[in-house]
Amino acid sequence: MFELTNKVAIVTGGRRGMGKTHALALAGQGAKVVVTDIDANECAPVVEEIKSKGGQAACFKMDVSNKAEVEQVFDEVIKQFGRLDVLVNNAGIYFSKPALELTEEDWDKMIDINLKGQFLCAQKAAKEMAKNKWGRIINISSVASGQVGVGIAGGAHYTASKGGIIGMSETLAVEWAPLGINVNVIAPGAIDTPMIQAAQIPKEAMDAMIERVPLKRIGKPEEVSAMVVFLASEEASYVTGAIFYVDGGWLAV
Ligand SMILES: NC(=O)c1ccc[n+]([C@@H]2O[C@H](COP(=O)([O-])OP(=O)(O)OC[C@H]3O[C@@H](n4cnc5c(N)ncnc54)[C@H](O)[C@@H]3O)[C@@H](O)[C@H]2O)c1
Repeated sequence: MFELTNKVAIVTGGRRGMGKTHALALAGQGAKVVVTDIDANECAPVVEEIKSKGGQAACFKMDVSNKAEVEQVFDEVIKQFGRLDVLVNNAGIYFSKPALELTEEDWDKMIDINLKGQFLCAQKAAKEMAKNKWGRIINISSVASGQVGVGIAGGAHYTASKGGIIGMSETLAVEWAPLGINVNVIAPGAIDTPMIQAAQIPKEAMDAMIERVPLKRIGKPEEVSAMVVFLASEEASYVTGAIFYVDGGWLAV
């Protein structure tokens, strides 16, 4: 099950954190993986790791908020690999700022990368996937997306971007079902990556959050990648427009 041989996948924000484990997991199932991020040099070790395990991979610099760059990289991937089957819209940023202090620039930066970036990549990917009447688009949101009880102080701009992903994805799933493209959302809880480390959440706040999570720990990036692999696979053929919480049960409380 979950065989991805001959499938071509693009992972955005793939140099580290969850993007890296998504790339490795997809390659582990046989996919050819294109690792993209704001710095191609930093993607190179991920590509080397995939190749050292016998897989095929390439890396490209691609800022997801830059439409011209997205179009150029996708065109180059299709030229090199001949097709595109899977897009993992993983790239994202987080920075905390009280809502009263948020500037227009802060707001635009967050929305441009986290929300517009996913749309630009999805739209370009869908045009290619439609040619083969087969595609899987996996958009990474968050439990901090307007779901009950997970508003985060200092994150109005982030939660707006992550909530937008859910509405957008449901619509894309409806529009693109006739094209053979399944669009789904993964909403992770707190996952141990450079992003959460950089957020410098005070220990008491982290302990309180973990206490609230039924599994009593934060998640590992690989635990989210397992869901990515399933949603990328043929076995997810009847799954579209859905949201998958990989959150240790956080939202169930
Ligand atoms: N870590 C968590 O607890 C958590 C929880 C819920 C959702 N998420 C989401 O998961 C995704 C992955 O996050 P992570 O925790 O691995 O963080 P991370 O910071 O380790 O990885 C994010 C990656 O996105 C890249 N990136 C940033 N701006 C970009 C741009 N403009 N174009 C292309 N790439 C860009 C970064 O360089 C980085 O490699 C993000 O969308 C994040 O919002 C994370």
